[in-house]
Amino acid sequence: MMEALKAINTRRSVRKYKKKKVPKKIIKELINAARNAPSSYNEQPWVFITITDKEKLRKIAEPEEQKSNFLKDAPLVIACCYDEKKSSTKIHNLENVAVAAENILIAANALGLGACYVTAFTSKYPVIEKRIRKVLKLPGNVHPVCLITIGYPDEEPVDKEMRPLKEVWKKEEYV
Ligand SMILES: Cc1cc2nc3c(=O)[nH]c(=O)nc-3n(C[C@H](O)[C@H](O)[C@H](O)COP(=O)(O)O)c2cc1C
Repeated sequence: MMEALKAINTRRSVRKYKKKKVPKKIIKELINAARNAPSSYNEQPWVFITITDKEKLRKIAEPEEQKSNFLKDAPLVIACCYDEKKSSTKIHNLENVAVAAENILIAANALGLGACYVTAFTSKYPVIEKRIRKVLKLPGNVHPVCLITIGYPDEEPVDKEMRPLKEVWKKEEYV
């Protein structure tokens, strides 16, 4: 297994996967990494739904607006949601799930998997959330934040230019 910093720094979005299934033991590791994330007031309001059913994935991937059609060919998708009944502060719900989602992305990389964060919640396209709700039979108190596509990589992640350290790192003050 990769060391933590290497897993963080080499993570890149992978959107094309081999057909090989992700073993249950590995899926368990991913969810375990997610549930160990920090959360506001330690409320851990998240719930993670693993989806491997092709028909379900096809239905979720359908909306044109999402531009994430690769979702239907992923061997595994994890819908990362929060349960509003388990959280006392609405304002932190997205953050809580997003930090847990990043844990999944890093753990996936460490385990030799490729993954991609796909937005499930967007006020611009409420149809996406609606579709996910229907397919996953989410109760009204459970809200999807993102879908993470996962599988054994079948593409080299695109090389991307990162903003330089000296641009993003300010010392003591902004200027
Ligand atoms: C909040 C958020 C939403 C994203 N939504 C999508 C998406 O809907 N579809 C997609 O293909 N990638 C999505 N991504 C992945 C980004 O495109 C990707 O992280 C970015 O281009 C940087 O590339 P990297 O992940 O390889 O470092 C999303 C990432 C984040 C953090």
